[in-house]
Amino acid sequence: MRFLFVCLLALVCSPCLAIADGGAANAVCDECHAVPDLRFTSDTGERKLYTIDPGRYAESAHAGARCVDCHDDGYGDTLPHSGRTTYPLYLCVDCHEGLGDLESFGLPDRREELVGSVHGKVLKPRLDCHDCHDPHVFDLVSANDAALDRIHASNALCLACHGAPAQRAFGYEALNDAAQTHDWFPNAARHLARVKCVGCHSPAGPGAGHDILPTADSLTTCEDCHSRSDPRYLGSYSVSNGAARDGESRATALDNVYVIGSTRSVLLDRASQIGFAFFLLLVLGHGVRRGLSQARYRRLNWMHVEGPRGLKAWHLLQVLLIAGLLVSGLSMHYGDSGLAPLSFRLAVRSHNVLGVANIALWLGFVVLNARSGNLRHYVERLRDLARDLPLQARYYAIGVFAGTPEPFPMHEPTKFNPIQRVAYLVVMYGLVPTAIMTGAVLLYPLVAPEHALGHPGLWPIAMAHLATAYGLTMFIVVHVYMTSVRPPDAEDDPTVSAR
Ligand code: HEC
Ligand code: HEC
Ligand code: HEC
Ligand code: HEC
Ligand code: HEC
Ligand code: HEC
Ligand code: HEC
Repeated sequence: MRFLFVCLLALVCSPCLAIADGGAANAVCDECHAVPDLRFTSDTGERKLYTIDPGRYAESAHAGARCVDCHDDGYGDTLPHSGRTTYPLYLCVDCHEGLGDLESFGLPDRREELVGSVHGKVLKPRLDCHDCHDPHVFDLVSANDAALDRIHASNALCLACHGAPAQRAFGYEALNDAAQTHDWFPNAARHLARVKCVGCHSPAGPGAGHDILPTADSLTTCEDCHSRSDPRYLGSYSVSNGAARDGESRATALDNVYVIGSTRSVLLDRASQIGFAFFLLLVLGHGVRRGLSQARYRRLNWMHVEGPRGLKAWHLLQVLLIAGLLVSGLSMHYGDSGLAPLSFRLAVRSHNVLGVANIALWLGFVVLNARSGNLRHYVERLRDLARDLPLQARYYAIGVFAGTPEPFPMHEPTKFNPIQRVAYLVVMYGLVPTAIMTGAVLLYPLVAPEHALGHPGLWPIAMAHLATAYGLTMFIVVHVYMTSVRPPDAEDDPTVSAR
C-alpha cells in the first residue's frame, strides 16, 4: 500500500525520490532566475517576480532540494518553459509524506487544520500551503531570531493578503486592511507589531496559523492580554508556535514589551499598598490627635481656598479630575483583580479624556498663575528655606497640638508657609508636568525609545507615571486635610484679609 502511494507520488513529483544536493543542479536555473528583479507579465495579467534569490534559497528549509524536485524537467534552459504551471493542493504534505527518511514536521496535521479553518471552509479554492509559505524561502523559526522579528515574520504571512494595499498579494486587492479593521486597538499598528495575528485568531498550540477561527470566535477583550495571570500575548513570545506559555516566553515578553496591567510586580504593588495604608494612618492619627488636643483647631474648615476668583472652582475641578484619573488608572493597573470598577477598555478611554482635560487645566493654571501675580507666593523667600522648613515642620508635628502660634502666619509678601511653597512648586511645576509628559508618551508610544535602562522603552516611563500618580494622590490627601489645619478664626485675622 505504502509502496503504491509512493509510486503515485513519484508520478506527481517524479524526482522526489531522487533528491540530491540542490546547489550544483540548480546552477542552470540560477543563470536566469538569480537575476535580480526579473519581472514579466503572466497569463493572468499579474506583474510577477521570477527572481529566486539564491542567498535566501540557500538559507531556506529546501536548500538541499533541487528546483526540479518541485518543478519538473519541462523547466530548463529552453524558453518558453514547458513545465507544469499548476501544483497539486498540499504538495508540501504529499512530498514530505513520501520522503520516509525526512521527518514530517507535523505537516499532515497542518493540512487538517487548514482544511477546517476559515481559509479552508469558506474560500473557493481553499488556501494552499504555498499561499502563505513561499517554498523558496520557507524555514523553521529559529530561537536565535529576536522575538519581535519572529512576530513580524509570522504576521507578514497574514499581511500579504490582509495588510496595507501596497503589500497585498495579487488577487487579494479587495480585502480589508487589518490596521483599519483593528482600529478598536489604541495605536493599532503598534499593537499589531507586538502580538501575533494568530495569537487571537487561532487557538494556541502547534496549529496556530492554520486553524484560523471565524472572527466571531476571535479574541476580543482587552483583559485577555492586559492581565497578570495567563495573558494571551505570551504565546507570541514563545518559539514553538505559541504553544508554551512558560517562564521562558514570559521572560522574553518582559524583555520586549511593557503591557499595562500585566507587566507588574506583585511585590512592588504590595509595598505601595502597605506604604499608602501607613500614610493614611499617619494623616488620620494627626487629625485625631489634633481633635483631642486644642479646642481652637477642632472645628473643621474644609476646602478653604484663598486667592483670585475662580480658584476655588479650579481646586474642585482638579480634585475631581485627579480622583477620576486615579479610579481609571487603578482600573487599568489592577484590571484582572476583579475589583476594578471600570472595564479595561472604558478605563483607557476615560483616562485619556481626563488626562487631556488635566493638561488643559494645568496650562490654564500656569498662565493664570503667572498673569495674576500669584506665582510670587510660590517663589518668595526660597533662599531661606534651609532655616524656615524645619521650623514649619516642627509646628505641624508638635506646635499644632500645643496650640502654639504659626511660625509663618499668612501675610504679605507671601501667603504660603515654607512647606506650602516647596510642596506647591514641586507638585505644580514638577510632578504634574512629569505626569503629563509620561502620560503623553503612553498615549503616543511611538515616541518612546525601543529600550531604556535594560527594559522595554515604555517600562521606565510607565513606572515614572505610576510614581507621580501615587505622589499626586498623597499630595491631594494632605492638601485637603491641611485646609482644616488653619484655625477657623484665621479668616477674621486682619493680616489675612489684607491680601
Ligand atoms: C534562459 C533563462 C532561464 C533558465 C535557464 C531557466 N528559466 Fe525559468 N523562466 C525564465 C523566464 C524568462 C521565465 C518567465 C517567463 C515565462 O514564464 O516564460 C521563467 C519562468 C519560470 C517559472 C514560472 C512558470 C510560471 O508561469 O509559473 C518556473 C517555475 C521556472 N521558470 C523554473 C525554472 C527552473 C526550475 C529552471 C532550471 C531547471 C529554470 N526555470 C531555468 C527563464 C529561465
Ligand atoms: C519536492 C518535495 C518537497 C516539497 C513539495 C516540500 N518539501 Fe519540505 N523538504 C523537502 C526536502 C527534500 C527537505 C530536506 C532539504 C534538505 O535536506 O536541505 C525538506 C525540508 C523541509 C523542512 C525541514 C527544514 C529543516 O530545517 O530541517 C520543513 C519544515 C519543510 N521542508 C516544510 C515544507 C513546507 C512547509 C512545504 C510547502 C511550502 C514543503 N516543505 C514542500 C522536500 C519537499
Ligand atoms: C519545495 C518545492 C519547490 C522548490 C524546491 C522550488 N520551487 Fe519554485 N515554486 C514552487 C511552487 C509550489 C511554486 C508556485 C507558487 C505559487 O504559485 O504560489 C513555485 C514557483 C516558482 C516560480 C514562479 C514565481 C513564483 O514565485 O510564483 C519560479 C520562477 C520558481 N518557482 C523557480 C524556482 C527555482 C529557480 C528553484 C530552485 C532554485 C525553485 N523554484 C525551487 C515550489 C518549489
Ligand atoms: C493568500 C491570502 C491570504 C492569507 C495569506 C491569509 N488570508 Fe485570511 N482570508 C483570505 C481570504 C480571501 C478570506 C475571505 C475573506 C472574505 O470572505 O471576506 C480570508 C478570511 C480570513 C478571516 C475571516 C474573516 C471573516 O470575515 O470571517 C480571518 C480571521 C483571517 N482571514 C485571518 C487571517 C490570518 C490570521 C492570516 C495569517 C495566519 C491570514 N488570514 C492569511 C486570504 C488570506
Ligand atoms: C487582539 C486580538 C487580535 C489580533 C492581535 C488580531 N486580530 Fe484580527 N480580529 C480580531 C477580532 C476580535 C476581530 C473581529 C472584529 C470585529 O468583528 O469587529 C478581527 C477581525 C479580523 C479580520 C476580519 C475583518 C475584516 O473585515 O477584514 C481579519 C481578516 C483579521 N482580523 C486579520 C488579522 C490580522 C492579519 C492580524 C495581524 C496583523 C490580526 N487580525 C490581529 C482580533 C485580533
Ligand atoms: C493580544 C493581546 C492584547 C490585547 C487583546 C490588547 N492589548 Fe493592549 N497591549 C498589548 C501589548 C503586547 C502592549 C505593549 C505594546 C508596547 O510595548 O508597545 C499593549 C499596550 C497597550 C497600551 C499602551 C501602549 C499603547 O500602545 O497605547 C494601551 C493603552 C493598550 N494596550 C490598550 C488596549 C486596549 C484598550 C485593548 C482592548 C481594546 C487592548 N489593549 C487589547 C497587548 C494586547
Ligand atoms: C493562512 C496562512 C497559512 C497557510 C495557508 C499555511 N500556513 Fe503554515 N504557518 C502560518 C503561520 C502564520 C505560521 C507561524 C505560526 C506562529 O507564528 O506560531 C505557520 C507555521 C508553519 C510551520 C511551522 C514553522 C515553524 O517554524 O515551526 C509549518 C511546518 C507550516 N506552517 C506548514 C504548513 C503547511 C504544511 C501548510 C499547508 C497544509 C501550511 N503551513 C499552510 C500560516 C499558514
